[in-house]
Amino acid sequence: APPRLYGPHRDNSAGVDLSQKGVRTMLADAQNHFDKAMPYACGPIISGKVKTGKAREQASPVDSSVIVSKVVEADEAMVDAAFTAAHKAFDAWDRQGGAARAMILRKIADVLEADTGRFMAILTREGGKTLNDGVAEVREAVDFLRYYAAEAETKFSHADRLPGPAGETNHMELAGKGVFACISPWNFPLAIFTGQIAAALAAGNTVVAKPAEQTPLVAFETIKLFQKAGLPKDVVQLVPGDGKVGALMTGHPLLAGVAFTGSTEVARIINRTLASRDGAILPLIAETGGLNAMFVDTSALKEQVVDDVILSAFGSAGQRCSALRIIFLPRETSDGLIEALKGAMDALTLGDPADPATDVGPVIDDEALGMLTAHESRMEREATILHRAPLSDALKAQGHYFAPLLVELPSLDVADREVFGPILHVVRYKRADLPKLAAQLAGKGYGLTLGVHSRLQRFLDSVREAVPAGNTYVNRNMTGAVVGVQPFGGEGLSGTGPKAGGPHYLYRFAAERVVTINI
Ligand code: NAD
Ligand code: ALA
Repeated sequence: APPRLYGPHRDNSAGVDLSQKGVRTMLADAQNHFDKAMPYACGPIISGKVKTGKAREQASPVDSSVIVSKVVEADEAMVDAAFTAAHKAFDAWDRQGGAARAMILRKIADVLEADTGRFMAILTREGGKTLNDGVAEVREAVDFLRYYAAEAETKFSHADRLPGPAGETNHMELAGKGVFACISPWNFPLAIFTGQIAAALAAGNTVVAKPAEQTPLVAFETIKLFQKAGLPKDVVQLVPGDGKVGALMTGHPLLAGVAFTGSTEVARIINRTLASRDGAILPLIAETGGLNAMFVDTSALKEQVVDDVILSAFGSAGQRCSALRIIFLPRETSDGLIEALKGAMDALTLGDPADPATDVGPVIDDEALGMLTAHESRMEREATILHRAPLSDALKAQGHYFAPLLVELPSLDVADREVFGPILHVVRYKRADLPKLAAQLAGKGYGLTLGVHSRLQRFLDSVREAVPAGNTYVNRNMTGAVVGVQPFGGEGLSGTGPKAGGPHYLYRFAAERVVTINI
């Protein structure tokens, strides 16, 4: 029998087609319209009301002189008001059942999809997203909403009958847990922000959401859109701010669970906070970083490897948790592969992400640029710089641009943590050393994405056995997981699971209740 297709039946968003001139014109108009009115005011949204106060300026990664938004950050009283209102709204939201919640989530998806141009314009200026990344991000947000809507409908709108002896009935049902804190990163400021909230809501919870401090505007506009589409105003609360606001959320007495996506270090802090609380033991869903590798063997096709490596390592300026960080090349073919990679790097265009010709946009902020520059200096001392993609002085002076870098490592000892940006580390291997290298990589404890380029099943099997990973990609690029198609998430230092955009995700947001009746 053919394998059963797993997960709810639904279609992924088609997005917009950038090859159409009319689409590009529509997007350029949306960008001009958006750019003209910068900076935008944004801030906490508590029970549908936007809070005003002293604002902080958020500059664009594309051009440091451009202020995208003036953001009011939440204080302790606002976080408390957000939890109190979300807590009051919980019972009614949970009781209405999965089917009713699904209708609202689908409506939000439709409204968001229809507003693609405006959201892409925000993503470009605030997050430095290229047009391709912007299309993918809006699609992913829409997909999360529709996927979790379908899951709410099938899993949260009725009780399941269980077997039992004569005279007894057994039913199991799923319900929300209460108020979830959704804490998201800047690198998918729409898709992950929306996905966490959609999942928590689909399962019957209410939400207090905190976007990353670098990307408050897209979150603000998203929550306004949720409410415009019909979401009751108390069901989601927005509390922008930095880690201090996050800490207020994870310490709040009305908290029922945390959905976190971000660095492994912050996930650990949240884990410790939750463990030290009195009262109920709370769930933490943490999706974190990776030290993602690709293994290439001598049977791999050079042009395909080069294409997939460039996209996986330097696409989105390497700012994807799934991005390729270390590539293992066989000594026999490594010279040719490295020369071809250098050629492909020379062909990369760095520039304004709103320009369709741009392949690589900026990194998010000064701190990211500083971290990458420091790593580059370390590599100059401890490794060999093989190549840098071309980057003009003008662009460097204008925004947070970092030239994609290819580095050869003397050994895997030097690769000790995720470096979040467009730096690819090369390790050349002798066939006999591969098991040892793979074991050393696995020993570092991450387990997010893994790439393999080979025509040999036994090579693929041996790499998969040696290196645990949540998502493995064979003979293709290793980024851009699609909701419902490649449910996404890692293990070990890379996350707790279950996978976002997969059929088990909502269970972690839910209470499971069994009722046994003796008739
Ligand atoms: P980060 O960990 O610095 O911040 C993530 C969020 O946590 C932000 O909203 C931040 O304000 C908040 N935060 C910081 N300190 C906190 C605290 N003490 N308590 C509560 N919240 C706190 O991560 P980032 O720089 O925004 O994002 C990049 C990281 O995210 C990378 O490591 C990347 O690999 C990871 N990431 C993982 C996935 C995945 O699905 N596995 C997806 C995207 C990004
Ligand atoms: N889900 C994102 C990707 O697969 C992080 O690239």
